[in-house]
Amino acid sequence: MDELELLRADLAQTDEILLNTLLMRNRIVEQIMNYKEGNDIDILQPEQEARQRKWLADSLEGKPHAEEVKAVFRSVLKNSKKIQARKLFDYNIVLIGFMGAGKSTISTQLSDAFAMKVVEMDQIIAEREGMTISEIFEVYGEEYFRDAETNLLIEMQSRTNTVISCGGGVPLRERNVAEMKKNGKVVLLTARPETILERLKDDHSRPLLENNKNVGFVQELMEKRREKYEAAADIIIETDGKTETEICEEVIRRLREEAAVYGSKN
Ligand code: S3P
Repeated sequence: MDELELLRADLAQTDEILLNTLLMRNRIVEQIMNYKEGNDIDILQPEQEARQRKWLADSLEGKPHAEEVKAVFRSVLKNSKKIQARKLFDYNIVLIGFMGAGKSTISTQLSDAFAMKVVEMDQIIAEREGMTISEIFEVYGEEYFRDAETNLLIEMQSRTNTVISCGGGVPLRERNVAEMKKNGKVVLLTARPETILERLKDDHSRPLLENNKNVGFVQELMEKRREKYEAAADIIIETDGKTETEICEEVIRRLREEAAVYGSKN
């Protein structure tokens, strides 16, 4: 064998080691999931992820190709998360609730934790129309915007394992609720009017709130919507005074309980 052939044989051997190591790693990831589920332990463990990151950075200190190796580890971690997500959620997670209830924030957290795709409905509609939500309301009116929401939800039926962050008005139409429930579990996030106003005090992207930033208005609109929100929800999570991680953990725990009782799909 010439030198090149020898090197290629060495490389093939390391690839085989890598392959078997990855397969073993994925089996361990599954075992950890089963253990956590069986022993009622929180699925999200941000400290553990931080420890892994530190271990990697320390281990690669001064080593060649450190950045490339880090990129491989990022991908390994992302794929472990996907394995977990597929095991936990064989449906879409649909987040509903009033403006400022935390739908976008919690979507991003869930997506980071489980490498799930996020569909931010408002953002997609705004991108497609080439305008902000406020401009769509101004130019075409609210009905037009509501129709765009319905159409987008129908389009989302072809997805699974996705977090769908709905605009606050989406569950007000019965048709929308029927569409989101076809392959999704609906999570209602709630917050007190004071919390909503605090979270949105510097925001100017919600036309319905723009000149109405007071407790009375928010409370009244919330009351008007409450019945429809609650009827649409499979689970309801209060967000006041909780950290993002606590809210995510509660979402996951309640979805698992719900799946244990009703099955993962309705
Ligand atoms: C609306 C909520 C907004 C956006 C639009 C109307 C509503 O979404 O869709 O301003 O009717 O509650 P967020 O709930 O994401 O703010």
